[in-house]
Amino acid sequence: MKVIIASNEADIARMVADDIQSVFAAKPDGVLGLATGSSPLAVYDELGTRVASGALSLAQAKAFQLDEYVGLPQGHEQTYRYVINDIFASKVDIDPANVHVPNGAAADPAQAAIDYEQAIMQAGGVDYQILGIGSDGHIAFNEPGGSLSSRTHVGGLTAQSRQDNARFFDGDISRVPTHCITQGLETIMAARQIGMVILGAGKAQAARELVEGAVSARWPATILQFHPNASVYLDEEAASQLELIDFYREVGVQGN
Ligand code: F6R
Repeated sequence: MKVIIASNEADIARMVADDIQSVFAAKPDGVLGLATGSSPLAVYDELGTRVASGALSLAQAKAFQLDEYVGLPQGHEQTYRYVINDIFASKVDIDPANVHVPNGAAADPAQAAIDYEQAIMQAGGVDYQILGIGSDGHIAFNEPGGSLSSRTHVGGLTAQSRQDNARFFDGDISRVPTHCITQGLETIMAARQIGMVILGAGKAQAARELVEGAVSARWPATILQFHPNASVYLDEEAASQLELIDFYREVGVQGN
């Protein structure tokens, strides 16, 4: 795993966008894996800037969002379908028909999860996956205690994750859905390249477990230690609890 510590979010966004630009320059019809939340916002803005300048095109690309709440009505402003259109698709030249999100309003969410997993495989798998991390160590909505080899499934959200996301529901945790459809850890691990963005002191413990902790279901993101091509981009606050911080600064983007 490459551990890259940057002084600010804008630098991280440029580095992640550089990686994505390389991937899609070599494979214009590749597959981009998307995350919602705050962490990737500057990356999406940077991708938008590069599309506008002609440095990047996603016109032939496909994209798959990691997860979706179960139970919100279609068109609700907090569905990840709505959010990803707002923060990503509206800023780049991707065909909206090629932006895929699990169907959290399906009558049978378990079947919708199976269908979504198949759709990713039929598209040829994810070439570059953007990730954030939850303060409890989740990636997508793979919460602590789940299988480390799961595929796309219906899962429950921890109280911590619902509390973290209450800010998007006027601070009212009772309005945050209790379940989701999420790509599984094995689904995410199948992505050919991964870039994770970790910002702020609230993520410092999760970042330490991810980079230096034991691989365990308690901190699901630790499975990424087994990924052959994953980069973790942290700001100073998120990196503040890393024991070997001087070493990571030394090896820098060359990684370890
Ligand atoms: C979002 C997702 C989540 C978030 C994580 C961090 O699609 O899959 O795992 O990446 O909850 O959220 P932020 O970036 O808002 O701190």
